[in-house]
Amino acid sequence: MVGVRSVSNEWAVAGVDLHLELDPASSRRGGVERALREAIRAGRLAPGARLPATRRLAVELGVARNTVAAAYDHLVAEGYLTARRGAGTRVAPLPQTDPPAAAPAPVAPRPRHDLTPGSPDVSAFPTAAWLRATRRALAAAPASVHGYGDPRGRVELRTALAEYLGRTRGVRASPERIVVTSGYVQALALVASVVDGPVAMEDPGLPFHRDVVARTGRRVAPLPVDDRGATTPVDAAAAVVTPAHQYPTGVPLHPSRRHALTAWARESGGVLLEDDYDGEFRYDRQPLGAVQGTAPDHVVYAGSASKTLGPGVRLGWLVLPPRWVDPVVDAKLHADHHTEVVGQLALADLIGTHAYDRHIRGCRLRYRRRRDLLVRRLDDLGLPARGVSAGLHVLVEHPDEAAVPARAAGHGLALSGLREHWHDPDRATRQGVVVGYATPAEHAYRAALDALAHALTA
Ligand SMILES: Cc1ncc(COP(=O)(O)O)c(C=O)c1O
Repeated sequence: MVGVRSVSNEWAVAGVDLHLELDPASSRRGGVERALREAIRAGRLAPGARLPATRRLAVELGVARNTVAAAYDHLVAEGYLTARRGAGTRVAPLPQTDPPAAAPAPVAPRPRHDLTPGSPDVSAFPTAAWLRATRRALAAAPASVHGYGDPRGRVELRTALAEYLGRTRGVRASPERIVVTSGYVQALALVASVVDGPVAMEDPGLPFHRDVVARTGRRVAPLPVDDRGATTPVDAAAAVVTPAHQYPTGVPLHPSRRHALTAWARESGGVLLEDDYDGEFRYDRQPLGAVQGTAPDHVVYAGSASKTLGPGVRLGWLVLPPRWVDPVVDAKLHADHHTEVVGQLALADLIGTHAYDRHIRGCRLRYRRRRDLLVRRLDDLGLPARGVSAGLHVLVEHPDEAAVPARAAGHGLALSGLREHWHDPDRATRQGVVVGYATPAEHAYRAALDALAHALTA
């Protein structure tokens, strides 16, 4: 493989890096010809692209200039290249003998409205505050921040998170026990990878997260959820739960269940992974603190910026019991050394200046208004909504779940059924749809609710 980096003419202006593979079994001229022909056929050299001067390519390939000139001549004769005085040697237009490009496959129309759960309203991303935070953080940071760092993440962010999580969620955290991750999904994979035994996961729950755990090689066991939230695992080394607002039923974990789960962890030596994915969004009364605050030696607390800022930020965090710190840090080191640094510094600044709190307060008001509109609309349809007190989604029980998606598609609406959330959909005990109300931009929300009303009624 020969890498050719150009330093002059248009080829260089375009910043093109071209890798030519010279076959050692061919003659030198044959090798250059074949490599150029392949690059043109594969589209790596586009029609009209100007090739380097023979002298320069010869130097970079370590062959005689005549060899390159002869290869160019041959490819001109074959019709791959054109050569005109003053215009240099260029890749010829596509040969006419090529079959006409196939017509692109029809693309399914994109839904006009999206009420699937999972994402916040990313049009509300605090761009100006994030820019200011990034600028301030980078201006203050020594160059060493761009080197390899602590696998737990930047101490600035871990310190800011320890304060923030203690203040807002009652988490007992110290910077040494925090590991910054690439979102919750990596946090989950890291914890699962160091668990020694089956992992109990809520049923219903998020299928993607079940897959993430299964891919670490751990057996996933269903953990039934009822009106009080998750039940107690029977034979598991870890249990993954969403206490603030169960995903997808929306039920908050009942105090008796909080107690039962922490007692299970204490007595069995198992670990409880608390996924606090939307814990910041509680509307009608003071949020219940994180379960971790009551049993910090037995609960791994996990949070994420995906609902507060946006999933594109890819920042999450774990607060670990002491005995879990070393194995998880080791797993993180071997996964990716550590999470990208500039975003961590920006988030630390955002938290430290309380711009993060202000942003969340603004979002909470907006999502609460949306929640109220949605609940009123569902009441008018005579359909009860569950899990309305928190988070960014509700569960709408519906007797005919199977018919809803087609009707929704007909109204340009993307909607998520409850069915896909069961470990075994054929043993589903309830039917319904999971309505995420954060995703549409503000101006599009009422139209999305109209489409929802059509989809839910025959
Ligand atoms: C149940 C649950 N947990 C956690 C998350 C956050 O995941 P991540 O931080 O990987 O974006 C989500 C996002 O949709 C979620 O639905």
